[in-house]
Amino acid sequence: MSGPDLRRAAAARAVDLVADGMRLGIGTGSTANAFILLLGERVRAGLDVIGVPTSEATRAACEAEGIRLGSLEEYPELDLTVDGADEIDANLRLIKGGGGALLREKIVAHASRRMVVIADAAKHVPVLGAFPLPIEVNLFGFGATFKAIQKAVESAGCAGEMTLRKASGGQPYVTDGGHAIVDARLQAIPEPERLSAALWAVPGVVEHGLFLGLATAAILAEARGDEAVVT
Ligand code: A5P
Repeated sequence: MSGPDLRRAAAARAVDLVADGMRLGIGTGSTANAFILLLGERVRAGLDVIGVPTSEATRAACEAEGIRLGSLEEYPELDLTVDGADEIDANLRLIKGGGGALLREKIVAHASRRMVVIADAAKHVPVLGAFPLPIEVNLFGFGATFKAIQKAVESAGCAGEMTLRKASGGQPYVTDGGHAIVDARLQAIPEPERLSAALWAVPGVVEHGLFLGLATAAILAEARGDEAVVT
C-alpha cells in the first residue's frame, strides 16, 4: 500500500460528500490532486458543481478535468472545502502551506461552511510543529520582518531555525499572491493559538500556515495489510 493509494482512498471518501449544486473549495497538493481527478470523473458523469481553486496549480488541474470554476467574488460563501494538510492534531488544528498555497487555502476555507481535510494518517500528530511552519511575508522590509517573526516565535514559547524558502533556481520562492515564505522549523508548537496571535501582530506577515478552528472533519487513510482503511 503506497502513499498515492492512501491519498486516493481518503480522496474517494471525500468525493462522496460532494452533492449536486454545491459550491466547492478545492485544495492544493498531491492529496487534493487525487480528489480533483475523482471529482473530474463525477463531473463528466453529470455532477454539477462550481469549484473555487486555492492556487493556480489547482486551477490548471481542475480545468484539465473539466471542472467548472468560479471565484469568491461570484460565490463568497461555499458549501464545502476539501483540502490536504501537512500536519493535523486531535483538535483538527492544522499546519498547511508546504506547497506554498496557504493564503488562498485559508481564505477559501474561511469562506466555507465545512472544511474536510484529506490525508495519509501519518500526518496525524500529537503536537503540531515537526513540519516546518510556513509564514507568508511581504518582501518589503524583510530584514525587520524576519527579526520580528523571531521575537514573535520566542514570545509564544517556541524556538528553532527560520529560513527564507527558495525556488529550485535558488531565488526566493514566490507565492501566487506575489509574496515570500519563511519556513520556521520549530519541532513543537505547544500553544498554536498563542503563536498564531503573535505572528498576526507582525505587520509584514501576510498569513501563516496554522489553520485553527477551520477544519470541521478529517478523513485519514492508513494501510492495514493490503487494505487502505479510512477513518
Ligand atoms: C499546499 O500549500 C499545502 O497546504 C498542502 O495542502 C499540503 O502541503 C498537503 O500536501 P500533500 O497532499 O501533497 O501532502
